[in-house]
Amino acid sequence: MASNFMSVQERRIATLSGHFRGAAAVEEELLQRFPTMAMAPSVFEHVQQAPEDPILGVTVAYNKDPSPLKVNLGVGAYRTEEGKPLVLNVVRRAEQQLVADRSRNKEYQPITGISQFNKLSAKLILGANSPAIAENRVATVQALSGTGALRVGAEFISRHYAKPIIFLPNPTWGNHNKIFPLGGVPQKPYRYYDPKTRGLDYEGMLEDLKAAPDGAVILLHACAHNPTGVDPTEEQWEGIRQVIRSKHQLPFFDCAYQGFASGSLDKDAHAVRLFVADGGECFVAQSYAKNMGLYGERVGALSVVCTNAAVASRVDSQLKLVIRPMYSSPPAHGAAIAATILADGRLFQEWTVELKGMADRIISMRQQLYDALQARGTPGDWTHVLKQIGMFTFTGLNKSQVEFMTRQYHIYMTSDGRISMAGLSSKTVPHLADAIHAAVVGAQRKS
Ligand code: LMR
Repeated sequence: MASNFMSVQERRIATLSGHFRGAAAVEEELLQRFPTMAMAPSVFEHVQQAPEDPILGVTVAYNKDPSPLKVNLGVGAYRTEEGKPLVLNVVRRAEQQLVADRSRNKEYQPITGISQFNKLSAKLILGANSPAIAENRVATVQALSGTGALRVGAEFISRHYAKPIIFLPNPTWGNHNKIFPLGGVPQKPYRYYDPKTRGLDYEGMLEDLKAAPDGAVILLHACAHNPTGVDPTEEQWEGIRQVIRSKHQLPFFDCAYQGFASGSLDKDAHAVRLFVADGGECFVAQSYAKNMGLYGERVGALSVVCTNAAVASRVDSQLKLVIRPMYSSPPAHGAAIAATILADGRLFQEWTVELKGMADRIISMRQQLYDALQARGTPGDWTHVLKQIGMFTFTGLNKSQVEFMTRQYHIYMTSDGRISMAGLSSKTVPHLADAIHAAVVGAQRKS
């Protein structure tokens, strides 16, 4: 029976004969024999070109720019003073140990990942003496970094929680807005950042949490809020805890920066531990992308802190049912690196020193940028550069100022005015300060 589709053999013959007769002749013959080839539209013809991701797309644009002046302050990824990605020494040492260990193999991991990694991750965020761990009421699963942990948590909530609605801070990390609805949990915003003070809108936040339904899920950034760099004080955290607990709401912590914000792993875990100490339940998504520099290895964990061990065990069993059809089981290598570091006292100590080194360099970038803006007499109050914490400064620059800085100065950043302080170096601070100065002065002239 004549068919309009070419077999593999026919295609080979057509290709070979093309060498002898020329492509145009072959094309003509093919069109005669297979007329639908010319007309058949793709079944995906209707597919629209998607926009680039608002954060990762900045790197795509940066990579295309041939200018030697270019600086990428878009994605939150640590760079050395030389502007290079950093692999921690302690990570290299752990990796060497793993490679040298001939007893290791490449078998599938359990659905919930490496159990030692899970236990150590829970201990890292909840504290070595956490009663929740001692009472066996924490279900922890390995996840594909923070994003994977959030996504698995979202799907579990949509299947098993009576109030599947989540309140997100405004603004929040752009991916949160997509992860939860796609995971089956509709989202709403709560007030968080006050553009006038470039600080926390504490009153607005409490008002919105009080107005949110009883039992709603509340997403909280454990430390170093992304994108604003604005965190509640310890006293404010206590106020937030009281409101959330009084309304029987369910806190869901996103902890992407433990140790990276202040340089201290314990200090950055304060908010999570405060909520766990009251005996109530919560979710915690952890990422080792920033604090161990394991970005591309996708290492993270999701912990569900429950009120008793029997529930935790049943939650664990259901998390497996979420994970298995999603990606079956997590990758081994990155989590094995993290577990090696977390399990070994000396490596752990070395890690804390390197981590503090990264946090301190970021803090020194804040001071240098602030000083450079002062030296140029840049109009406005720039003390928020010093006050905000963690990886990002939410500069207050608007979209057209950002576009100006990219066009004229080849500085790449997200359009909301967020800059990654970890991408700056002493060499690039003056260039950034020049760009900010010109953008601010230019905007003043226009208005
Ligand atoms: C960021 O906010 O830049 C990082 O968390 C990287 C990412 O995945 O968006």
